[in-house]
Amino acid sequence: MKKQLLALAATLAVSASALAADIKLVVNPDQPGPVIHRNIYGQFAEHLGTGIYEGMWVGPDSKIPNVRGWRKDVVGALKDLKVPLVRWPGGCFADEYHWREGIGPRNKRPVKVNYNWGGVPENNAVGTHEFFDLADQLGAETYVNGNLGTGTPQEMAEWLEYMTSEGNSTLAQLRRKNGRDKPFRVHYFAIGNENWGCGGNMRPEYYVDLYKHWASFLRTPENNRPVFIASGGHDARTDWTEALIKGIKGVPFNAISHHGYTLPTGKWEGKGAAVGFGEDQWISTLAHTQKIDEWVRKNTAIMDQHDPSKKVGFYFDEWGSWYDPEPGSNPGFLVQRNTLRDALLAALHFNVFHANAERVKMSNVAQMVNVLQAMILTSKDKFVLTPTYHAFALYTPFQDATSLPASIENNPVYKVGATQMPALNVTAARGKDGKLYVGLVNANATQGAELTLQVGAKTPKAVKGKLLTAGAMDAQNELGKPAQVVPVAFEAQAVDGKLTLKLPAKSIVVVAVEG
Ligand code: AHR
Repeated sequence: MKKQLLALAATLAVSASALAADIKLVVNPDQPGPVIHRNIYGQFAEHLGTGIYEGMWVGPDSKIPNVRGWRKDVVGALKDLKVPLVRWPGGCFADEYHWREGIGPRNKRPVKVNYNWGGVPENNAVGTHEFFDLADQLGAETYVNGNLGTGTPQEMAEWLEYMTSEGNSTLAQLRRKNGRDKPFRVHYFAIGNENWGCGGNMRPEYYVDLYKHWASFLRTPENNRPVFIASGGHDARTDWTEALIKGIKGVPFNAISHHGYTLPTGKWEGKGAAVGFGEDQWISTLAHTQKIDEWVRKNTAIMDQHDPSKKVGFYFDEWGSWYDPEPGSNPGFLVQRNTLRDALLAALHFNVFHANAERVKMSNVAQMVNVLQAMILTSKDKFVLTPTYHAFALYTPFQDATSLPASIENNPVYKVGATQMPALNVTAARGKDGKLYVGLVNANATQGAELTLQVGAKTPKAVKGKLLTAGAMDAQNELGKPAQVVPVAFEAQAVDGKLTLKLPAKSIVVVAVEG
């Protein structure tokens, strides 16, 4: 009986929202925008908690099935997700990482203390060779984050030489002795991380001078030159972007890194719980994404003044939810549950990045496994795919797709207390396969929405794709209950010249448009 009442309530909610005004989604197929770079779907893997050790790396002698130390199950699931790029080794960890400690026989590598993350031992089992092997197994591009905070220009230059040199220098020979004949392909290289904070508490002007100094000595063969990334600001700040884009001249400089996390309360002390939250924190979390759009636009507007031909990229290379740590866990390990809310949060981020794809050519979710807004949670030899994983999976057709303008007429307002946001959020693109894709988020936790779809002046015949939703705002996948939040088929056909999409409350829909 309770179930029937709930179903009736949901139907009434859809009908009520439809009555309010005709909601119309219009996609314009004739005005292609920039390509949505696949690296917008990049991932971040730091030496932090069980993100790498246990979560992905178990070592070649482990009973857990692995390929040269990397877990088969986890890597297989990430491969299915078409992870295009991995950023490593940090984060804050990067500015205390000394690459020489992570090469050569693993049993001879020094054991250090991971001061940033829980003060636990770091045995350096995963180093340069292991990272490139992971990227190889995933078929992903590589993003290496260099150490500016506690390193030297010489150490950084020598790391690049070690990775990329084709010749017979002592460093190239050392790489060969360690098992790698050909140079590694370094696609992206960052000079420091969060140098306004854990990377050295610097002023942007000071960092600009250091960047120019260090970048002057970073040499690689022409055919293996990475995209050089300067460490930028965070959140709403624009001072770093401004200082970098104005000040860095005469040295390789291809992109600015920017970070922004979502905290339900907006406060670092008492961020908000990952599960068991109310609708107030559902909406505060999702509404935050609108701010990210504003942050990106403010920063890129400054870049436009100094770099009108948009040569320098704006990479949002750390983003995601950050909640109070899971009770009973090491707070330095940043363990948190992952729910339907995280899936919607991810989709809203994708829509923002698509809308800013002219400059935003990379973004990295923090982080890949077991840390913050992870794709996968592991426990010993078991693992579960999170709702965030499924949001990424739904959006894979957007990798390297060409963005298209899309707008929603009569978008309902979703309001809880003093917080409000548009209920519906959309993105559209022409995929590499030639199909037109639409991604939609209904942020409203209690009301569904009906909208008609128009492509140019035409009504398409049908849409077919996937829907992600669940009964509860904090529905999650757990070991033993791995399918609480999983995509299901979604389709709609035109009737009497109208194609109506019925979105349930708190849902994501990605469809290919037919006809
Ligand atoms: O992702 C966790 C941490 O957040 C990263 O190490 C750091 O760059 C950021 O502050």
